Amino acid sequence: MKIGIVGVGHIGKTLALKLSEAGHEVSVANSRGPETIDKEVLVTGAKAVSAKEAILNKDVVILSIPLNSIPEMAEYIKGVSNDTTVIDTSNYYPARDGRIEEIEAGKVESLWVEEQLGRPVAKVWNAIGSDSLAKKGKPTGSDDRIAIPIATNTDREKDYEIASRLINDTGFDAYLSGSLSDSWRQQPGAPIYGTDLTLKEIEAVIDTAEKERLPKRRDIAVAAILERMGDSKTNPDADYGVRLSRVLFI
Ligand SMILES: NC(=O)c1ccc[n+]([C@@H]2O[C@H](COP(=O)([O-])OP(=O)(O)OC[C@H]3O[C@@H](n4cnc5c(N)ncnc54)[C@H](OP(=O)(O)O)[C@@H]3O)[C@@H](O)[C@H]2O)c1
Repeated sequence: MKIGIVGVGHIGKTLALKLSEAGHEVSVANSRGPETIDKEVLVTGAKAVSAKEAILNKDVVILSIPLNSIPEMAEYIKGVSNDTTVIDTSNYYPARDGRIEEIEAGKVESLWVEEQLGRPVAKVWNAIGSDSLAKKGKPTGSDDRIAIPIATNTDREKDYEIASRLINDTGFDAYLSGSLSDSWRQQPGAPIYGTDLTLKEIEAVIDTAEKERLPKRRDIAVAAILERMGDSKTNPDADYGVRLSRVLFI
C-alpha cells in the first residue's frame, strides 16, 4: 500500500520503520521539511517528503502528531480521496496541547479531530506506548500477542480492514473497540490505554471504563512520568509505562 505518515516522533518513526519493512511504500514528513528527517527513520525504505506530499495520493494517511497540530492538516486533507483511510494516533494532553474547551466539556477526542479535518478518521495506535510499539511486536499467532484497539466510523468497514492489516504488519493483534463515538474507551486513563493487553484481556476490561474518571487518571500518570523522567519529551520504557498504566487505569 502507499502510506503517508506525518510525524516521525516516538510513534511515527516506529510505524515508518515497521511498515516499510513489511513491504509498504512509505513516505514520511515532519513540520520542518524532508531534509531534517533523521536518516535512521529511512533505513527500511521510507522516503522523506513534505507534509503535503505525504498526505496526497495515498491509500493510507497516518497522522502521528500532537493533537494541537491536527488543525494545520485540514488544508492538505481537503484534497484527499474519500477512499483513502486516514488514521489518527493522537491523544489529548492539555499540558502539551493547551486547553481545548470542547474536549474538556466531554467531546470525544477523535470526533474533535474529525471536525478539524472535515472527514472521517480511524483512531489507531493511540493506546500503546512508544517503547511497547517499538519492542513488543510478535509474529501472528504468538502466545500473549498484545492487541491494539481500532475505533472507526461504522459505515467505513474498509478503514477497519486496512487498519487491522497494518496493525498485524507492526506485530500486534487488532481489536475493534467500536465506533468513533465510543473511542473514549481507548483514550488516556482508560483500562485498555497503555496496558499492553491481549485480545482476551481487553475484552475482560473494556466495559469497565468510566468516561468521567479518565482525565484525572491521565493527569496523575503524566505527573508520575514527569517526576520519573525529568522532562516531558522523554517517554518511559515499556516496563515502567505499562506497570504505571495498569495500576492507575485498570
Ligand atoms: N509517545 C507515545 O508513547 C504515544 C503513544 C500513543 C499515541 N501517541 C500520540 O501520537 C501522537 C504523536 O506522538 P509522539 O510521541 O510520536 O510525538 P513526538 O515524538 O512529539 O513527535 C511529533 C512529530 O510530529 C511532527 N509534527 C508536529 N507538528 C507538525 C505539523 N504541524 N506538521 C507536520 N509534522 C508535525 C513533529 O515534527 P517536528 O519535530 O519537525 O516538529 C514530530 O515528528 C501524539 O498525539 C501522541 O499523543 C503517543
